[in-house]
Amino acid sequence: MELFRNRINKNNIPEHVAIIMDGNGRWAAKHGKPRVMGHEHGVESVRSVVEGAGEIGVKHLTLYAFSTENWDRPKEEVEALMGLLVYAIEAETESLMKNNVRLSAIGDVEAMPEKVREKLNACIEHLNDNTGLNLILALSYSGQWDIVNAVKKLVDDTVAKKIEVEEINNKLFNKYLATANVPDPELLIRTSGESRISNFLLWQIAYSELYFTGKLWPDFRKDDLFEAIFDYQNRERRFGKTSEQLTS
Ligand code: FPP
Repeated sequence: MELFRNRINKNNIPEHVAIIMDGNGRWAAKHGKPRVMGHEHGVESVRSVVEGAGEIGVKHLTLYAFSTENWDRPKEEVEALMGLLVYAIEAETESLMKNNVRLSAIGDVEAMPEKVREKLNACIEHLNDNTGLNLILALSYSGQWDIVNAVKKLVDDTVAKKIEVEEINNKLFNKYLATANVPDPELLIRTSGESRISNFLLWQIAYSELYFTGKLWPDFRKDDLFEAIFDYQNRERRFGKTSEQLTS
């Protein structure tokens, strides 16, 4: 079977792809390994997908690396994930640089351990002038956190009379979200066979195409990303309109 890389339409690449990287624990169990090894192998998938996204001209790639709810996992797993983030950011910085990737983060980053914040900020700074793919890590992120956080800032600005209540609309609200400078994702991918959003980007996926695959995240590679994009390209996006309206 021909690679999906050769089957996708290079003129219809989504600008923003978001991914819920799921199934690391099940991958580890399947291979008789501790859960953390699933996460470790997941980093290889991150590398492949970041490379692939950059190669075909995706502009923004948001990865759900650690959710607000992930804090409730066993302490050892949370610590292992934080250690892995520190390690991965450090180990990948130069290859990100070579691939012209920029890095940013969304979420309650202040809640992350100092070591993670330090590495993250150093990496963001180092890659700041790059002009290729914008890799967005969602860290201590949840869609509900994002919306509540936006409401707080919006209320502050209203009380401070920087904005009038009458001015509040979807467009303005968007500016208060963590993703203010990024278009909404056209495509949201979730691995591991679960068909849930799990409190990821809630506001932003109003019209996203959802793609669920049974592949576990540590088995996911760039051609799986291209397959998802191929699937996306063969859908009709109507945004509430009728099919006839779109073709006329
Ligand atoms: C979900 O699998 C995955 C996570 C909670 C963590 C994802 C983190 C990484 C892939 C590594 C670091 C990332 C970067 C960006 C360097 P799960 O543990 O919920 O799997 P399960 O549902 O099978 O238990």
